[in-house]
Amino acid sequence: MPHNHKSESSSRREFIKTSALAAAAAAPYFAPASVFGANAPSNRVTLGFIGVGNQGFPVMQRFLENDQCQALAVCDVNRGSNGYKDDKHFYGREPARDAVEGFYAKSKESGSYKGCEAYNDFRDIIGRKDIDAVVIAVPDHWHSIMTVQAAKAGKDVYCEKPLGLTIGDQKAMVKAVRENGRILQTGSHERSNPNVRRLVEIVQSGAIGDVKRVVANVGRHNMISPGPGWKPMPVPEGFDYKMWLGPAPDAPYHKDRCLYRFRFNYDYAGSQVTNFGAHSLDMAQWALGMDKSGPVLVEHVYADYLPKGSLFNAATYTHFRCTYDNGIVLDCMTGVPEVRCIIEGTEGSVRVENQGRNFFTIPEGIKAKVCGTDVPDVYVSNDDHQRNFIDCVKSREEPAASVEVGHRSATVCHLGNIALRLKTKVKWDPVNEQIIGNKEASAMMNRPTNQAWQA
Ligand SMILES: NC(=O)c1ccc[n+]([C@@H]2O[C@H](COP(=O)([O-])OP(=O)(O)OC[C@H]3O[C@@H](n4cnc5c(N)ncnc54)[C@H](O)[C@@H]3O)[C@@H](O)[C@H]2O)c1
Repeated sequence: MPHNHKSESSSRREFIKTSALAAAAAAPYFAPASVFGANAPSNRVTLGFIGVGNQGFPVMQRFLENDQCQALAVCDVNRGSNGYKDDKHFYGREPARDAVEGFYAKSKESGSYKGCEAYNDFRDIIGRKDIDAVVIAVPDHWHSIMTVQAAKAGKDVYCEKPLGLTIGDQKAMVKAVRENGRILQTGSHERSNPNVRRLVEIVQSGAIGDVKRVVANVGRHNMISPGPGWKPMPVPEGFDYKMWLGPAPDAPYHKDRCLYRFRFNYDYAGSQVTNFGAHSLDMAQWALGMDKSGPVLVEHVYADYLPKGSLFNAATYTHFRCTYDNGIVLDCMTGVPEVRCIIEGTEGSVRVENQGRNFFTIPEGIKAKVCGTDVPDVYVSNDDHQRNFIDCVKSREEPAASVEVGHRSATVCHLGNIALRLKTKVKWDPVNEQIIGNKEASAMMNRPTNQAWQA
């Protein structure tokens, strides 16, 4: 079932219409031949997977289960190894290719299947005319370059959250997606979770009264950093470290810099603030009706770092405070890991826990309240984020977490990191997407890019 707007504000409808018209004007949409018809192999959405590690590998497996799409290629700079979040897992391009071919072999009489290429260089996937869409699940410092190149090559994109490494990167992604008439689903899959949608419905229907305060939780480092004096390691055979670094500054290899652990280093990611915040702040933004906007003030409250010289240079315990122009205050902080988001109003509160699996209200009776169909901005996907993407590639409707949604939610995370790193207050103009009156903070909206890797 394609993305179905159960009830949407006219502004959202207008926005989608305008975006679609703008995209059509800029680059008329030609549906790839392979997307028409039922699910005969030649009619499936053909996919290439870029980055098949901790997240990319299981996401790829979820796409395989959908017979509306077909995996043609995988790409990873790692040929295959352990050393991911869970050391039991053996991920990388060869295990991913084997998983794809093994999956399709099950439905062949011969019991064997060949037809999934494994590449080291993502440009080999983007250059393939027979691939309709790419799934990008690499570290954050690569998201923008790959998305922009894929969009320019006419591919639709499923890109993992947080949308980009910087606000500037994300603006380039929005532009490339819209100018080329592409569909982009941000991988913030909790947008497709019925409990999260219920939280939004309850808040927007006024069932908890006037919203006063929001708590969005993020985690702390969940891996141990090599301490000061750590020594570089030899690059393992089968791992293209230069291509892993890509646009990031040159740095000596250490295993704890790369697989999974990259998120604790500001050169490649934004710590747990962007990692968790791209979920918890995303649901807060949605519930507050701020999908096209954001806070006007973001303030440092607290940040704690590992000893200087440790490999992980990102803050581990964090707290920053956002204020919206309607006076609502949002505290984003390292808190109880299970709690994602709490929204408190004058007449009650709602709380989502455990990646959206648990949902509570105070008073409890609010949970049963029927909110009706006139709640603005509550739209319904098919509750399967990957399937919703494939449906939208076919229908050309907006997916549950469009490029703008991913951009605006991750922007709050990036602003938080800027305020934390500078120990300052950042005034934000959400209309023009600019930091007001602080040159140092404004400069952090972008990163110097390695010239070899201009998108
Ligand atoms: N939606 C979610 O809940 C969720 C959960 C976890 C991770 N993520 C996101 O997924 C992304 C990847 O995180 P992860 O935990 O899977 O990391 P990971 O290190 O386990 O996997 C990333 C993979 O990308 C590969 N890679 C790196 N550079 C590459 C390049 N230039 N070309 C091809 N492959 C390259 C790595 O070798 C690795 O196999 C991050 O953006 C992260 O925020 C999302």
